Amino acid sequence: MSATRSIAGANQRRDIVLDGVSKRYGTLHAYGPISFTVEDGTSVSIVGPSGCGKSTLLRTIAGLEPSTDGVARFAGQPITKPLENVGIVFQRDLLLDWRNALDNVLLPAEFRGTCDDATKERAARLLDQLGVGGFKQAYPWQLSGGMRQRVAIARSMVCHPAMLLLDEPFSALDALTRDQMNVLVQDVRQNENVTTILITHSIAEAVFLGDRVLVMSGRPGQILDDIAIPFPRPRRLSLREEPEFTEIVRRIRIHFERTGILVG
Ligand SMILES: Nc1ncnc2c1ncn2[C@@H]1O[C@H](COP(=O)(O)OP(=O)(O)O)[C@@H](O)[C@H]1O
Ligand SMILES: [Mg+2]
Repeated sequence: MSATRSIAGANQRRDIVLDGVSKRYGTLHAYGPISFTVEDGTSVSIVGPSGCGKSTLLRTIAGLEPSTDGVARFAGQPITKPLENVGIVFQRDLLLDWRNALDNVLLPAEFRGTCDDATKERAARLLDQLGVGGFKQAYPWQLSGGMRQRVAIARSMVCHPAMLLLDEPFSALDALTRDQMNVLVQDVRQNENVTTILITHSIAEAVFLGDRVLVMSGRPGQILDDIAIPFPRPRRLSLREEPEFTEIVRRIRIHFERTGILVG
């Protein structure tokens, strides 16, 4: 973050700023200290070995898991309680089996008491954009894993979240479906301009979706590298075969090779 911006714009911009944040559970040091900024409207990917504290870090940013040291801020305010409007997607879609796709998407709006006609139109539009517009009335058990995850993504975005937190959302999907989801998520989050943090074990996915990629060490997870990803958007899957792309993938892979950690 530039000095000018931190003075002039920190309160207006909805940046996520971590300053020496760490988390301990008793004697177990889960992650940190970690400092980074995710600028408003950008997409940051985080890769790191299993158990290095990625999910815990994401929960800290959502205000669900207080840090032990340091300060995490959102839009200039310390995050001290669960943030009101955060879209979260996990590996498991957590859809309710007794509600159809559209009604699953509308759930957060119902909780918030904001489920008006405009919200219903938005929910339907998000499902259209995510390629499952023909399945609004279908129940979760009638949908494939990839379709269910698209519904979960629409649900996470229906209330115009201030930030989107994705915790290995595609890990349970087959490779082709995963590729397809990468493109769909890129396009939807680009339309919405929503600040996004993606945790993934796939280096290629991290690079494809990120404006930046943060590389974490083993537990306690710290930031080993912070790499700007320069490719313009929209990015297409064929980008992954370009030498500039594979060079960045290599740079990240070397971190894990050096530390003896294999990522999947
Ligand atoms: N609520 C908790 N209580 C105690 N230990 C926890 C808790 N949540 C996570 N941990 C521990 O913190 C470490 C990091 O976990 P996690 O954030 O899930 O890692 P990752 O998502 O990178 O795989 C692990 O050792 C895990 O056992
Ligand atoms: Mg995790």
